[in-house]
Amino acid sequence: MSDIHILAIESSCDDTSAAVLKNNRVLSNLIADQSVHQSFGGVVPELASRAHMQNIVPVVHEALSKANIVPEQLNAIACTRGPGLIGSLMVGLSFAKSLAWSLEIPFIEVNHMQAHVLAHFAEAPEPEFPFLCLTVSGGHTQIVLVKAPLEMEVVGTTIDDAAGEAFDKTAKMLGIPYPGGPLIDKYAKGGNPKAFEFPRPKVKDLDFSFSGLKTAILYFLQKQEKQDPDFIQKNLNDICASVQYRIVDYLLYKLKMAAEKYNINQIAIAGGVSANSHLRSELERLGKEQGWQTFIPKFEFCTDNAAMIGVTAYFKYLENDFAGWDTGPTARYGF
Ligand code: KG4
Ligand code: ZN
Repeated sequence: MSDIHILAIESSCDDTSAAVLKNNRVLSNLIADQSVHQSFGGVVPELASRAHMQNIVPVVHEALSKANIVPEQLNAIACTRGPGLIGSLMVGLSFAKSLAWSLEIPFIEVNHMQAHVLAHFAEAPEPEFPFLCLTVSGGHTQIVLVKAPLEMEVVGTTIDDAAGEAFDKTAKMLGIPYPGGPLIDKYAKGGNPKAFEFPRPKVKDLDFSFSGLKTAILYFLQKQEKQDPDFIQKNLNDICASVQYRIVDYLLYKLKMAAEKYNINQIAIAGGVSANSHLRSELERLGKEQGWQTFIPKFEFCTDNAAMIGVTAYFKYLENDFAGWDTGPTARYGF
């Protein structure tokens, strides 16, 4: 079969991204993030939609020119359909469908969470099926059993907050700007992970809960600040290291449970939180101890990006899984 060129677009939250792929290999992957949200301490949906509208044409243009591909060479156009912010998704979807329509080529809709998992197929080494993927982002925390590229089952999920939210909400309590995850990671490097003890949450089977941990951190900080108003400032590194230690410990504790339950030794991580340096190094350490083959994505493929949308679209293209022009965005999207 001849090579397949796909233009992929991702606009589910606050990053506008476009990528061009030749089969499942990435020729270009451009991301425009939105600094406009920083002063609000979180993503403001209306501002995100407007920024996507401003960014989408230059980002797509740049992705094509970097890949050295003209629109007439494309075989299909793909875009995230959900889950995500409706207004943000709408910008990418309308643009992608219009372009596919005008070029008279198929349109492929992609589930963002499936795409995080399939980011592992953007480059070698690729996991073998079946494998387990811990997908940890700002909105989701899932353990996914991946049986085939488009055959996945969520075997564990959070019953409240996501792991990324636990990082971001802790950051907010500490006065660290949004998104706090990467900064907690940075400050934790200079701290002692055993300085303060936070309890490991207790939830049945492979599910997670982060809201109790968030409350425990809040009460701990309030109590300490009563005794010393400069407590956070004086202990920032140790607090970050201790919180990060517990979140990562909890994620890997459940991942180990899943590996034992399904007797699988191909273990991957994905999503924005998989950029966390402690999670990456601890997974490697645990993997060696357990005899796992571990798969840790390149930073570029951890946080939201269109390359992963393109990889997923490639697998859908092979199955002739094309979407209609009436495909609309969906805030929640299971699989
Ligand atoms: O996958 P992603 O880019 O967007 C969603 O689909 O949600 O994930 C964003 C999340 C944010 O919560 C951010 O704080 C977190 O990933 N994150 C990190 C790190 N880099 C990004 N959390 C901890 N350590 C990091 N280095
Ligand atoms: Zn994501």
